Amino acid sequence: MGKITIAIDGYSSTGKSTIAKQLAKLLGYVYVDTGAMYRAVTLYAMQKGYIGDEVEKVDELIADLSNINLQFEYNEDLGFSEMYLNGVNVEKEIRALPVSKLVSKVATLEEVRKKLVAMQQEMGKEKGLVMDGRDIGTVVFPDAEFKVFMTASPEKRAFRRYKELLDKGEKVSYDEVLKNVRYRDYIDSNRKFSPLKRAESAIEFDNSDMGLKEQLERIYNFALRKIEET
Ligand code: DC
Repeated sequence: MGKITIAIDGYSSTGKSTIAKQLAKLLGYVYVDTGAMYRAVTLYAMQKGYIGDEVEKVDELIADLSNINLQFEYNEDLGFSEMYLNGVNVEKEIRALPVSKLVSKVATLEEVRKKLVAMQQEMGKEKGLVMDGRDIGTVVFPDAEFKVFMTASPEKRAFRRYKELLDKGEKVSYDEVLKNVRYRDYIDSNRKFSPLKRAESAIEFDNSDMGLKEQLERIYNFALRKIEET
């Protein structure tokens, strides 16, 4: 049985990464969270003062891109990989709201996308991987054997994200999170380079009213069928 490439795209907070992570585990595949890569570049830009609420030194960020080293390292205890930015574990910072607020802006930059897409294609050369993001089935791996596109209502997604952030001890309001979800949907879907859209051959999953177990079961069965066909 051959190994395949699995592309999972969709809106923010649809549970893409949870599904992708567990699917990879079930199949014994490598999991790559491309959102973490855009988030790490955003964190770097914030640390350097290239972007923030008032500063926007896009040219300086682009000129500095070659100094950004991104690495996923597997954490045995957690059972998944964590993002390292220039040798430092940044898992916690990249998931917090300040990065979420700015990441869509950084993800519109063509030079950033080019750098990250090239890295992602390199990671997937051997197949046997599940990659999640916004443009995996359309741009990074247009020939992926199995593509999933995940959606859910903005309200449901905001509520899930809100609960997640509260659990992590962040002080946020539901309205603020909903605003961020809608804002990111708009930017992600309307940007010039690789906007979020469903690849023609992707199966669409609206999980507004579907539990994690059911989704995973369905997607896993689809994946097995694809693997058998390969
Ligand atoms: O999946 P996420 O919420 O962690 O992604 C963070 C942001 O990065 C999201 O607003 C869009 C962007 N992104 C992207 O443009 N392309 C990808 N392949 C992955 C993420």
